[in-house]
Amino acid sequence: MNVATVTESSIVEAYRARTKRSAARYEEAKTLLPSGIVHDSRRTWPYGIYVDRALGSRKWDIDGNEYVDYYGGHGSLLLGHQHPQVVAAAQAQLQKGMHFAASHELEVEWARLICEMVPSAERVRFTSSGTEATHLAMRLARAASGKGKIIRFQGNFHGWHDHVAFGNKDHLDGTPTPGILPELAAGIVLVRINDMAEVARLLSTRNDIGAVMIEPLGTSSGCVPTSPAVLRELREITRRHGVYLIFDEVVSGFRVSPGGLQAAINVIPDLTTLAKVLAGGMPGGAVAGRKEILGWLDFEMSAAAKHERISHQGTHNGHAVCAAAGIATLKLIRDTDICARATAMAVALRVGMNEVLEDEGIPWAMYGDYSFFHFFTNPDNHPLKPTQFDAHAVPVAWFKADKREHMLQRLVLGLMINGVDPKSWRGGLVSAAHTADDIKLTVDAWRKTLRALRDESVVD
Ligand SMILES: Cc1ncc(COP(=O)(O)O)c(C=O)c1O
Repeated sequence: MNVATVTESSIVEAYRARTKRSAARYEEAKTLLPSGIVHDSRRTWPYGIYVDRALGSRKWDIDGNEYVDYYGGHGSLLLGHQHPQVVAAAQAQLQKGMHFAASHELEVEWARLICEMVPSAERVRFTSSGTEATHLAMRLARAASGKGKIIRFQGNFHGWHDHVAFGNKDHLDGTPTPGILPELAAGIVLVRINDMAEVARLLSTRNDIGAVMIEPLGTSSGCVPTSPAVLRELREITRRHGVYLIFDEVVSGFRVSPGGLQAAINVIPDLTTLAKVLAGGMPGGAVAGRKEILGWLDFEMSAAAKHERISHQGTHNGHAVCAAAGIATLKLIRDTDICARATAMAVALRVGMNEVLEDEGIPWAMYGDYSFFHFFTNPDNHPLKPTQFDAHAVPVAWFKADKREHMLQRLVLGLMINGVDPKSWRGGLVSAAHTADDIKLTVDAWRKTLRALRDESVVD
């Protein structure tokens, strides 16, 4: 394959031809925003689309192209874009006021819904994002346990604050990324994903570990999956050693089931971090958990227990418009089969895409649990049958990063020129607004993309 073919293939030409206005916007954006973007995960080669509007499962870019959207507001839009009840609730609140700098009734109703739906939630503190939620959960766990170190798992993502911004896609040895104090990084003990023997060993040989925090579906919502059996074992080990367990349910919360993954598998952590679906597409997060741990934020409880309180502020905690959208979203999730519908659509998508892989003789697989789908592009070319691939049954090493950047870039662009916007080359999320037509369109787009990749000799 010569270099010209690699850098400007017909897939790339087709993408450029239909996204000229986005290309121009990107040129301007680069002069204002680092790399022209506002979130690392939106980096797309040669540039990403600029979106004008969205509805249900679809979105439209500024060049007028329509896409089936599988990024869904970074996972926050389980109900799809612009669900009428969510929009109406947010609009009604906008008419009344955005920010009262005072308590309001919606924050109480929002917290009550969380406590009713999420098994571990006895008390709730709102934050403005998932990152803030994991930050606060870690501080609470350190304060309440009196122990400084926290175990995290290599690859798991918990946002971008200083205690978690290493050890997910790089710095797996726990060394800090630029700008992070080595002393802070030293407060984290990184363990290989799913290695419960190592967690048990650490907890029985050390007494400085206050909590274990985990993305319970596995790395990036199950790209490297963690099974319920592993979580049960982790719960048992942490309970035995009196160490707090934090489930980061920022993505899985209210998506996997109305009570999150913990309710679906009946493994109850001490603390839970929530965001995304929680606020129905608006900014918002929360830490929920045991009353005595959240008590470290409580004036009276801290005074009664005679310990210094954790102070916590945040201009937009429990923001009224976000609360209105969140309440409308959570009620729909509580009262209907929305989680199950999104999961059923994702199953149909995974099955359809795996059948295409099998027809085309490509040893890749689509996998994922609940409403997620992930691409397994099989960098080591393991023999496998796509329709029978079981991601929980293969070694973790199979999921090592695929370094074939050119191929992965074209995979994404190929889907986009065929009307599908995945989250990235890793996969995407399905909402309850996706329909059988969306699935059919996506499966057709997948076949066309694979054939185009083959035509360009990017896959065999
Ligand atoms: C599991 C998990 N935790 C935390 C976060 C951080 O949330 P936010 O982007 O709202 O800060 C994310 C974001 O994708 C996430 O996936």
